[in-house]
Amino acid sequence: MTSVNVALIGVGNCVSSLVQGVEYYRDGTAPGLLNPVCDGYAISQVRFTAAFDVDRAKLGLDLADAIWAPPNNARRFADVPRLGVEVMDGILADGVGADSAERIDAAGAATLDQVVAHLTETGTHVVVNFLPTGAQRAAELYAEAALAAGCAFVNCMPAVLARSPHWSARFAAAGLPLLGDDLKSSFGATLVHRAVVDALTASGVLIGDGYQLLGGGNMDFVNLQDAGRMKGKRDTKGAGAGAPVHVGAQYLPFLDDRKLAYIWVEGEGFGGSPVEVEVRMCVEDSPSAAGNTLDAVRHAKAAMDRGHGGLLPEVSRVLMKAV
Ligand SMILES: NC(=O)c1ccc[n+]([C@@H]2O[C@H](COP(=O)([O-])OP(=O)(O)OC[C@H]3O[C@@H](n4cnc5c(N)ncnc54)[C@H](O)[C@@H]3O)[C@@H](O)[C@H]2O)c1
Repeated sequence: MTSVNVALIGVGNCVSSLVQGVEYYRDGTAPGLLNPVCDGYAISQVRFTAAFDVDRAKLGLDLADAIWAPPNNARRFADVPRLGVEVMDGILADGVGADSAERIDAAGAATLDQVVAHLTETGTHVVVNFLPTGAQRAAELYAEAALAAGCAFVNCMPAVLARSPHWSARFAAAGLPLLGDDLKSSFGATLVHRAVVDALTASGVLIGDGYQLLGGGNMDFVNLQDAGRMKGKRDTKGAGAGAPVHVGAQYLPFLDDRKLAYIWVEGEGFGGSPVEVEVRMCVEDSPSAAGNTLDAVRHAKAAMDRGHGGLLPEVSRVLMKAV
């Protein structure tokens, strides 16, 4: 049976849920998964072949153990057997921000050539990037490695890659698929905000201001306390909201991996009458990212099979926040 060989960049909470998800949905029957088969590939065909991180607490561990290493705090919903995939040291660059550095003992001394060699030796087809928001330079280096190793690249965080004509042209020239930027959660604040805006717009309401105020207790929220890094998230969320939106993110440690979102939209309806919609939602943050990631890697591999390189715009528009 053909497999979808996936390398992981950043073994954080999202990757924890992704790795657990492949075990949980191995036979494709449990609820909560939209597409047991996607573009011809079943979940059981997704195989992890490589993983990179820079956190010394995760390096050298089997991927099945590294996903439980603190500061990861994603919910445990599946037991993962030993996978035979050792977490390798990566390329640090701008991966770890000042706020996260207090909680992460960072290595990151690998060279680009070492990353390329490992991707090649492991027969990786698709590289999935789950670096912290703000890691533009590190994301570019891993994209470079994917190109050199002949891999597709799925950019699940806000670095500007799929939106960059430079990078999409390079992946097109290499005949390798590129998806991005910044994954949409299957059921997340961006989707709900967009649904509210769409419903109002379809009723003739002129959309005014809006906000998404988010709270969470995972490392993503630690990282987003840095205003410079938060900007990248604002850009991709703004692109996905379909209307002007103010985005704020507060680190609330007691929430662990839960994400609380207050969404508010105002507008002008019939006769200039004011309209307001307010939504409060709470989800487990990281599992809600895993379903769309599983679709993205399977679309990327299927595009490779078809010899399609460059940006996959239709798939990216469905699965990603900013295209
Ligand atoms: N629902 C979601 O949680 C969701 C949805 C869409 C997008 N995202 C984005 O996905 C990204 C990852 O989110 P997360 O919650 O898994 O974050 P996380 O902080 O739990 O994980 C990031 C991992 O990357 C590692 N890392 C840092 N620099 C590195 C480098 N240079 N090389 C290799 N590894 C490095 C860290 O040690 C950590 O293990 C974030 O940018 C987030 O905004 C998350």
